[in-house]
Amino acid sequence: MAPRLFYGAPPRDFCSRSRGSQNPGCPSVSHLQNRKKHSENRTQYARHLKGSMKDRKICALWNGGPLYRGSKAFGRPELPLCQCQLPERITEIGSDVKNGTFLRETGNRNMYMDEVNLKDVIGLEELRRPENGEERGQTVEDEAWSLLKESVVYYCGNPVGTIAANDPSDASVLNYDQVFIRDFIPSGVAFLLKGEYDIVRNFILHTLQLQSWEKTMDCHSPGQGLMPASFKVRTVPLDGDDSATEEVLDPDFGESAIGRVAPVDSGLWWIILLRAYGKFSGDVSVQERIDVQTGIKMILKLCLADGFDMFPTLLVTDGSCMIDRRMGIHGHPLEIQALFYSALLCAREMLAPEDGSADLIRALNNRLIALSFHIREYYWVDMKKLNEIYRYKTEEYSYDAINKFNIYPDQISPWLVEWMPSKGGYLIGNLQPAHMDFRFFSLGNLWSIVSNLATAKQSHAILDLVEAKWSDLVGDMPFKICYPALDGQEWAIITGSDPKNTPWSYHNGGSWPTLLWQLTVACIKMNRPEIAARAVELAESRISRDKWPEYYDTKRARFIGKQARLYQTWSIAGFLVAKQLLANPDAAKMFVVEEDAALVSAMNSMFGSSPRRKRGSKAPKNSYII
Ligand code: GLC
Repeated sequence: MAPRLFYGAPPRDFCSRSRGSQNPGCPSVSHLQNRKKHSENRTQYARHLKGSMKDRKICALWNGGPLYRGSKAFGRPELPLCQCQLPERITEIGSDVKNGTFLRETGNRNMYMDEVNLKDVIGLEELRRPENGEERGQTVEDEAWSLLKESVVYYCGNPVGTIAANDPSDASVLNYDQVFIRDFIPSGVAFLLKGEYDIVRNFILHTLQLQSWEKTMDCHSPGQGLMPASFKVRTVPLDGDDSATEEVLDPDFGESAIGRVAPVDSGLWWIILLRAYGKFSGDVSVQERIDVQTGIKMILKLCLADGFDMFPTLLVTDGSCMIDRRMGIHGHPLEIQALFYSALLCAREMLAPEDGSADLIRALNNRLIALSFHIREYYWVDMKKLNEIYRYKTEEYSYDAINKFNIYPDQISPWLVEWMPSKGGYLIGNLQPAHMDFRFFSLGNLWSIVSNLATAKQSHAILDLVEAKWSDLVGDMPFKICYPALDGQEWAIITGSDPKNTPWSYHNGGSWPTLLWQLTVACIKMNRPEIAARAVELAESRISRDKWPEYYDTKRARFIGKQARLYQTWSIAGFLVAKQLLANPDAAKMFVVEEDAALVSAMNSMFGSSPRRKRGSKAPKNSYII
């Protein structure tokens, strides 16, 4: 058997089916008792050895690409398919131009798709991708479902995620053939809403297995607990056996990503999805597992570790989240803070109370209170606050300074003076000494509503602003990733003259349909679903015709993005989740973590005391301070 190179023992989803084994599937996952580092080799893979000759079966279910259209080929090279062997009577799958896809039986007889009941032969529900509008009567939602199913990636015969983009017209795949953690979230939610829980459970457990493997970049390893940005299922020859192959899960922690960006958001999303899985499926046994509890704690420890920071917000490098390129969001970007807050609340609910984690839970509670205070107080802007900033005194050296971060009023850009509606407000993108990034970042604002990081009043004001600035934030396709775009010198300096992030494109003011689902959860939570419904209707009118692009360009989102992938999975899933939630608004509640009485009262007393209170003023009554 190949060497086991896991961080964590024993490997839980190691699908070892050595020759002669009669076990056709993955063995059930065993509990991880303790974690021990194994670093015999730098290359670390989760391995799935191919099964015995007897139980060989088809498990390649990447249902797009050449299997259906191309020449004799089984899947697109380099795609995460499992090249498992076929059942004994079928020796090959291919296609010819005249008759389409065939299965070749022993004795070289070809059975064309029309002739066989594929479901019986290889267990596929749907094998053929319908072309746009091809099937009469098919709704956009139906099409989205079949596309989502086609994007499913299998490992060891089991669904483990969805491919980032499934664009047959695009020759340069880059890393869009991988399962991205953040991209899978709407896919996972769509499956949860549909009652298909296995794929989410598998995703959670397999990605957990990848957590903090000893990945290095130029001799440096990222912190333990880091979750990868993405992973790929690769088929590699089995060591010492020419006739067999094995599947491996190959994670990318950013060490091969463009710009070598650290995926800080991955672990936070993972915790959020884990909680959602428990809520939707009712199966809390996953979150109770020792290895899963350890995984949660490792993420928390990484986030709660002491550093040089003066602020309770997480300090991260540029490009550490959905915006994974240089966009001037290093420091304390709102998106990371909203996910951090959300993940802390989810973890708090899921962590098993035990003596060993008392300190961690105390630190978590303290952080929740400090973080919510900091964001609600210092990130918030509306007309009133802007006017305050406009009249700020600067250079206040004292404990009771009003302008704590020494913000120079000239930073208020002319666009903002015009743009801020009289009714409404939002949380700014970033806060640093002498720097407020006034750009409106959508995901951070929407997830602050969902996670309760914003107060109820602020949440309503954010939605008021969305309504007031509809043509800027929604335009012809929801939803702008940030507003406004960086232009001219600012663009050159901040993005490093990035040709992909030109004004109103991609991360720099492009419009991303995937954001529809977060918009919908936020609107339903605030009892204003009509806002989301309007956005969804707009998307529905063109997204299928446009082939489900990754993003749109121009100020009003009129063009399909310059370098946008088509059939981008999280555009498809984001749309689907929005539709599902609008049809069943109660389900959106599953994402909302209610703060319990103790937390609310501690937060209230923090707010009750003046934000500009003097040093030494009393700590809140129900403080969790250790
Ligand atoms: C782009 C996006 C990133 C996404 C990835 C895969 O890099 O910026 O957020 O995860 O594509 O779709």
